[in-house]
Amino acid sequence: MLPPRLLNAVDDEESTAVTRIYRDKQDIDTQSVRLFFEKRAKAESNPVNAVMLQKEGSQIAIERDAYERGMLVPPVPAGSKVIELGCGAGRLACHYADLGAAYLGIDFSENLIAIATNEFKDRAAVKFQVGEIPRVNPEAFLIQPPFDLVVITGLLIYLNDDGVEDTFRLIESISSKKAKIYLRESISVLDHRLTLNEFFSEELNERYSAVYRTVGEIKEFMEDSLVRNGFELRAEGTAFPKELQIRKETNQHFFLLER
Ligand SMILES: C[S@@+](CC[C@H](N)C(=O)[O-])C[C@H]1O[C@@H](n2cnc3c(N)ncnc32)[C@H](O)[C@@H]1O
Repeated sequence: MLPPRLLNAVDDEESTAVTRIYRDKQDIDTQSVRLFFEKRAKAESNPVNAVMLQKEGSQIAIERDAYERGMLVPPVPAGSKVIELGCGAGRLACHYADLGAAYLGIDFSENLIAIATNEFKDRAAVKFQVGEIPRVNPEAFLIQPPFDLVVITGLLIYLNDDGVEDTFRLIESISSKKAKIYLRESISVLDHRLTLNEFFSEELNERYSAVYRTVGEIKEFMEDSLVRNGFELRAEGTAFPKELQIRKETNQHFFLLER
């Protein structure tokens, strides 16, 4: 049997050869993404690190979380309805519940939804349910549309292109006439997309898949559905300050749309 270091070395070579795809469009496997997050929910004692993909003890996810709440996520008036697609462990739920909004979080990881449900069991205005975006039936939502704010942070990279299209259609169909959309996503800073397909991350000690699209690609999806249906892009930009940016080929970008 090969010693563990050698096994890793072989693994890495393989990963670089076949699992890091520049430019070309390649679908990733949704079920393996779901299993990845089921494991992440158990791998970290801090759910913020679990969903923001940082290691146990890391501060960067905690700092990004604080920055995002303080500087980026849009406020809503009390009585508003907020939905978060791919809500993870409900990191932003108390932000909106504290503003007096009703909040519904949907995620396909049963483990993350269990953590979130337990954490917020005493807050009647906060609900969570398991569902795979975009394959959900809004009639079954625990809080019924229309929603005044739709939040998506770090979900689109786990969807294939047809999934992004259908998710934007879903958002359009569950949004109120004056709704806002807050989207913050990992993007490729190259001039083309980067797809990781079952790529082995030494940092997380796990294989994972994700599609890092360019800002231009994401805007094209928006144009084709949301903008056609009355949404306007009101603000966008690099999400976090320099000290909270850590990657060479990817970064975090936010978009705020309103209609
Ligand atoms: C990077 S985490 C972000 C979680 C949360 N939005 C936050 O910022 O704390 C991505 C989340 O999307 C969820 N997810 C990925 N693909 C999904 C899908 N197709 N349907 C529902 N949830 C999905 C994962 O389970 C995970 O909780």
